[in-house]
Amino acid sequence: MNPESGTMRHAHVTGWGRYVPEQVLTNADLEKMVDTNDEWIVTRTGIRERRVAAAHETTASMGAVAGLRAIRTAGLDPDDIDLILLATLTPDYWMPSTAALVKEAIGNQRAAAMDISAACSGFVYAFATAQAYVTAGLAKHVLVIGAELLTRFLDYTDRGTCILFGDGAGAVVVSGSDEPGGSLGIEMTTEPQGAYMIWLPAGGAKAPPSPETIRRGEHFIRMEGRETYRFATRTLAATAMESIRRAGLTADDIRLFIPHQANIRIIEAVAKGLDLPMDRMFVNLDKYGNTSAASVPIALAEAANEGRIAVGDAICIVAFGAGFTSGAATIRWTVDPARGIAGDAAVDPSSIHVRLPQDWDAVDPIPPALAEIMARPDPLNVPLDDVVPGEPEPAPASVS
Ligand SMILES: CC(C)(COP(=O)(O)OP(=O)(O)OC[C@H]1O[C@@H](n2cnc3c(N)ncnc32)[C@H](O)[C@@H]1OP(=O)(O)O)[C@@H](O)C(=O)NCCC(=O)NCCS
Repeated sequence: MNPESGTMRHAHVTGWGRYVPEQVLTNADLEKMVDTNDEWIVTRTGIRERRVAAAHETTASMGAVAGLRAIRTAGLDPDDIDLILLATLTPDYWMPSTAALVKEAIGNQRAAAMDISAACSGFVYAFATAQAYVTAGLAKHVLVIGAELLTRFLDYTDRGTCILFGDGAGAVVVSGSDEPGGSLGIEMTTEPQGAYMIWLPAGGAKAPPSPETIRRGEHFIRMEGRETYRFATRTLAATAMESIRRAGLTADDIRLFIPHQANIRIIEAVAKGLDLPMDRMFVNLDKYGNTSAASVPIALAEAANEGRIAVGDAICIVAFGAGFTSGAATIRWTVDPARGIAGDAAVDPSSIHVRLPQDWDAVDPIPPALAEIMARPDPLNVPLDDVVPGEPEPAPASVS
């Protein structure tokens, strides 16, 4: 970290990037696993498909690609970053932090790095933390990442949860400046009455991993869908409004809302609560499902790249999640949105590597229920002699 940044009064979004895995899991695929159908999923949630990380991918690898893309969009080098904050509920390991792995993978030598845990609100919480560091003068450029690999924590016999979630990562760079703009107002809430409405029971100190916790299926996400839905519709608009009020604005001043992508009906309820048309709400959950902490930064990057945000616009990012938590930030956009497409193109995912220990061989991480759709050869992992022309054919095995 660079403690000599000096106090900067404003925290601007100067870079953004996203990464989603190539493998698509459609509603039709899910019809083969659980008693569900495309029509039910689309009508009740708006989701048509989601992405599934390949065996070689992890939360850190996806976060590193999105993070480096955000750094390139900002026109920075990895070593310009003073602090890396990574929001996730699906870290690569209990320790070290996934942020530490990302730091190494993007080639940064000097940042402090830590994870932030606030479930689907995690990115907004991390964004607020970045603003606090920047405006306190403790960091000039903070990389804020939301990254999730949820498809490895789902019970593919539970139709109430396995249809909802997907994998991916998004990131922004938050930079200090004395120019007005950037983050204008933040609101965050935590309501622990909802602590067991979405939770993952085992693997922690209360129920460490054991054959019994595995037998009970306690390593998968559990959710009370209706209660969660009620919390979301009650909270999202109020949290957004508080952040907008703190920014000294009204809902009418907000060019685009970027809500957590959990369910189209929840987003419609937010629009209704704010008395705004749906075209002021950014929606991409049809393509990715709910990617938890990654959902807002993926949506933010896509909204900017699709030209839905212009310099001078006020936008509001807003999320809710397990805890129950909610968070919103109202942001004045100050950087040319066209920069994001070049930032994305500047980073080839196959060039990013998260180091593994040499003496450890991880088990196959792909859930058995997904093995069939993952059987397609992974374009990033084909053996070298399949892609390098002139590479000698392996000698045929001798038969004795
Ligand atoms: C999960 C969710 C989509 C369920 O939709 P819903 O309209 O509340 O549906 P219900 O749970 O009331 O179930 C209605 C019926 O559909 C059935 N059903 C549930 N999942 C189904 C599926 N995937 N396919 C077909 N039927 C399903 C239920 O069993 C129930 O049947 P019953 O009436 O015979 O008992 C919805 O509650 C939701 O989105 N909740 C919020 C989840 C969320 O956002 N989580 C992430 C937080 S960050």
